[in-house]
Parts: sequence; C-alpha cells; structure tokens
Amino acid sequence: MAAPVLGLVGSAAGGLEEILPKLVEPMIERGWRVAVTLTPTAATWLKATGDFDKIEQVTGLPVRVKPRLPGEESPHPKIDCYAVVPATSNTVGKLALGLADNQALTQVCEAIGGGTVPVVVFPRINAAHARQPSWDSHTSALTRAGVHLVMGDDVWPLHEPRSAPGKQLPWDAIIDAIVSAAQR
Ligand SMILES: Cc1cc2nc3c(=O)[nH]c(=O)nc-3n(C[C@H](O)[C@H](O)[C@H](O)COP(=O)(O)O)c2cc1C
Repeated sequence: MAAPVLGLVGSAAGGLEEILPKLVEPMIERGWRVAVTLTPTAATWLKATGDFDKIEQVTGLPVRVKPRLPGEESPHPKIDCYAVVPATSNTVGKLALGLADNQALTQVCEAIGGGTVPVVVFPRINAAHARQPSWDSHTSALTRAGVHLVMGDDVWPLHEPRSAPGKQLPWDAIIDAIVSAAQR
C-alpha cells in the first residue's frame, strides 16, 4: 500500500523552527510522506535559518509557497490529511472566513470545503489572540466544518503575550490528532 501523505502547512508562529525534528521526521519514521507548504512569512523565517532547504532534502519534495501557474502540475502528491502546525491567529481567522490569499490557505480552504480530506489545526496563540472578538466564532466555524482543533487547557494553556514560559508545542497530541483524523 502507498504511504499516506501528510500535507503539513506551517505559518509564522512560535514552534515553526521545530517542525523538521518534531513533526516532519517523526511522521516519516511512522511511514508517512510529508509535503510541506508555508505561508509567505513562514517561508522567510525558515529560509533565514536554512531549514527550508533541509525540509526539501528530508521530504524529497519541494516546499510550496507560491501558487503554481495555470498550466503547471502541482509539485505535491495527493494529500491524505492536512495539518496546519503551527497555526497563527491570522491563519486560523482566514481559514474560518475562507480567505485564500496565499498557497497555504488555498490548499487548506479547499480541503475544508471539500470535506473529504481531514484537516487538523494547532492554533499556536496567546490569551490576547483568544480575546480578539472574532476568535470564538472562528474556532466554532472550523469545528462545525469538521476541522480537528488541537486546543484547550490540557494541551496548550494560554498565556499573556510575551509571558509564556519557553514551552514546547504539544507535539505528541498533534501527532496523535493527525493519525486519528487520518483513520476516520
Ligand atoms: C517573532 C514572532 C513570533 C510570533 N509568534 C506568533 C505566534 O506564536 N502566534 C501568532 O498567532 N502570531 C505570531 N506572530 C505574528 C504572526 O507572525 C503575524 O501575524 C503574521 O502576519 C502571520 O502570518 P501568517 O499567518 O501568514 O503566517 C509572531 C510574530 C513574530 C515576529
């Protein structure tokens, strides 16, 4: 049987710098292929550290940032499960509203609307993001659409801006959510 393909979408939030060792490599070890797409800001961050090129080497696939030309084929295989990790408050809000103004959002908005490819989202946010007046309606809209949100006090307690202890993302909970979403 062909290896399942994870469409990993990274946005410009804390923890992005760890996606290679904490998510890409563990998923490959579990037998998955991983096709990475980054928001434009996330791409600048990972190009600055050199991880952009390393991810391409490890996954054997180009990291997507820009949309393809109308006549071009997608450089990624068919995706079996999307994971938006880490997801900024900005990217979560745009997904909830169906705004697709970059390649990362385009892919995930299509998956949410299509309803056949599971979507897991880990919002890497702080308490101020969650108090933004539209936050609850954004997470409710995504939940109603069947998106698996990895959030809550047990996995990611919210801290005020710039007061969070240097905390690891809940990588085990994220991987469990991906594996379980893909089995449904
Ligand atoms: C150093 C730094 C860290 C940031 N961390 C976060 C974060 O953890 N969560 C978040 O929602 N936004 C964070 N932001 C703000 C986002 O990067 C910003 O809203 C950006 O426009 C998001 O773009 P994107 O969603 O297209 O990746 C951070 C910004 C900087 C400069």
